[in-house]
Amino acid sequence: MTKEKVEKLISQLTLQEKTDLIHGNGFFTTKGVERLGIPPFITSDGPRGVRKDFGNDSWREVGLSYDYVSYLPCNTALAATWNRALAHSTGKLLGKEARGRGKDMILAPGINIMRSPLCGRSFEYMGEDPYLVSELVVPLVQGIEENDVSSCVKHFAVNNQETRRLDVDVEVSERALREIYLPGFEAAVKRGRAKGIMGAYNKLRGTHCCHHQYLFNEILRKEWGFEGIIVSDWGGVHDTKEALMSGLDMEMSVTNDFDQYYMAQPLIKLIESGEVDEKTALAKMDEKVRHILNVMNELHMLDGERRAGGYNDYADKASLRQTARESIVLLKNDQDILPLDRKKIKKLLVIGENANRQHASGGGSAEIKALYEITPLMGIEMLLGGNTEILYKPGYYNEDNGNIWASTGDSENGQADSLNQDNVESPAPVAIEVSSEQRQHRQEMNEKYLKEALEAAKEADAVIYVGGLTHDYDTEGQDRADMKLPYEQDRLIAELLKVRPDTVVTMVAGSPVDMSAWLEDAPSLIYSWYAGMEGGMALAEVIFGEVNPSGHLPETFPFHEKDCPATVLGEFPGGDKVHYGEDIFVGYRYYDTYDVPVAFPFGYGLSYTDFVMTGIRAEVVEDTAKSTAVKVSFDISNIGARAGAAVAQIYVADKYPKVKKAAKELRAFEKLYLEAGETREVSLMLEREAFTYYDEEAHCFRADAGSYMLMLAKNAEEIVDITEIELRSE
Ligand code: BGC
Repeated sequence: MTKEKVEKLISQLTLQEKTDLIHGNGFFTTKGVERLGIPPFITSDGPRGVRKDFGNDSWREVGLSYDYVSYLPCNTALAATWNRALAHSTGKLLGKEARGRGKDMILAPGINIMRSPLCGRSFEYMGEDPYLVSELVVPLVQGIEENDVSSCVKHFAVNNQETRRLDVDVEVSERALREIYLPGFEAAVKRGRAKGIMGAYNKLRGTHCCHHQYLFNEILRKEWGFEGIIVSDWGGVHDTKEALMSGLDMEMSVTNDFDQYYMAQPLIKLIESGEVDEKTALAKMDEKVRHILNVMNELHMLDGERRAGGYNDYADKASLRQTARESIVLLKNDQDILPLDRKKIKKLLVIGENANRQHASGGGSAEIKALYEITPLMGIEMLLGGNTEILYKPGYYNEDNGNIWASTGDSENGQADSLNQDNVESPAPVAIEVSSEQRQHRQEMNEKYLKEALEAAKEADAVIYVGGLTHDYDTEGQDRADMKLPYEQDRLIAELLKVRPDTVVTMVAGSPVDMSAWLEDAPSLIYSWYAGMEGGMALAEVIFGEVNPSGHLPETFPFHEKDCPATVLGEFPGGDKVHYGEDIFVGYRYYDTYDVPVAFPFGYGLSYTDFVMTGIRAEVVEDTAKSTAVKVSFDISNIGARAGAAVAQIYVADKYPKVKKAAKELRAFEKLYLEAGETREVSLMLEREAFTYYDEEAHCFRADAGSYMLMLAKNAEEIVDITEIELRSE
């Protein structure tokens, strides 16, 4: 359908019909206009796969037998692959399944910056660095939208905590906003051509993000040229007039009084009352409808030409497993204790409740009704194939402790109540009241499990520990109170390492945990995320060396939450107003610039082979006021005995900065696969953005002339080679 035809459609719509197109008429759908052949617009969560279906006006699960889907690695896992091609294949699969399930817009990806490791939704996001986020969100969005399905990049903007998420008011400098919090969204819009953006719940500088003139009209529409649909977060709209005048196109919420949504009857009343200039109001309405219909048209919803999707295709499982494999991060491997040699192990002991736990159905709106989920224990069983006796001991006691988002077949999902402040203010699950009997029961169970595990550990040929977090901690609606491992795992791991110093320690979690209680004593450490339905298999493959690990941290692992700048400033979770006083010094930009030691730096990850990277050289190919191009080359060799992948990282530092800058910033990276003994020359291009900062006075990004150091690095702490260039233009 041509754009002219879309305009004709708009001219045929009544005010009521226009209103029907711009607000929810069900929890995940609009009404559509049957008379003109405009179908309802159906959305669905979310970032880890297509969510199960709820009733149109009740948060009760419908209980379909056919909404089991592929469970994808969470976004942090995806980010840990540092692999653009896998971001694309993951997006492609997500879009295909969304389309296959009859959805028009998938409410993903989530790309908020990890300002604090305590943010409950960290697992849904891509870590702490705007460049890494930007590079991965573009292929991810493109992959989704290849299926005639819209993405919905969320949550725009500065939605970096769950505590008081509905109205916390963020004060952030324009520079930090532009350099840290917005680049991922800008890349998704300008390079990824995303068709959907979701406004955030929180406020920015006093105004709710879901009707933020500056964010929507100035930045998104005018500066970035966004012509797609801006959807509110569910219940994020608070004012009819502001919603009308801002660039918001579609209001969604969690209550079922659909006619009373701000952009429903109250909007018609507002226009009819004469309180707003009718001409302006109608023009605004048309704008919203135009955005929606144009996207529908691009998705071929209006012309019968739409591509078919599909879901649970077995052929897709290979790419899912590959993403899971590449997301796993090897953090420690003293004396090459890993991989384990399965031929030498007759009796294997697996300890830790996470070995036996499935995670897909938790976390809030990112929950998934997975077709299957291979737990680590199952992965190990599948891999060892009956040749090894495998014993499992939980080691610690985890009774599910009543996460507010948990849903079961016959009770309402926590989302129904998610606008209720009482439910969102509690800082973390540890704050949930437990009776003294419950406490005692937990203690007894923990003692019992600990004893059993330690006893069994003495007998086994090898011991693998699988602990970490669950979605009682990594969850929407709540932040963690601290980085401590729950369920008394610190004591268990420390004791275990005394009995079995060769224990292989692995963590399954969506965010960093404090491991200082036993870290030095653990010879090996593997970090796996909620890595999707194939995650347990991928972990087993890494432990036993079928796969050479190549994941790298997309976020710094501080020793302790007290080291995090937001916490240092007392601004996480802060009060009603949160001042982002750390400014641009988020993540490694802070730890690195202010010499704060961390447990594991940003970009860190080991392999079973060794790589040597040397000989960095740079050539300034273009240096004009408008355009900069610097070609950086270096050599990389795999000097170990097996094939593997390295992530070469290029950080840029301004030698004599005119404004305060971070010690260095990631500006290029490449994941490189090398055979054993292979050497290769690699070249990467740095463009103007690699040298810019946001100039608050001039209201634009600028690159100053001067000397820049280009650092070739294995991670934010380990620089292996440096060269320098001179830029003359600015
Ligand atoms: C979440 C969104 C989600 C929406 C719809 C909200 O509570 O913040 O990320 O897409 O619900 O379920």
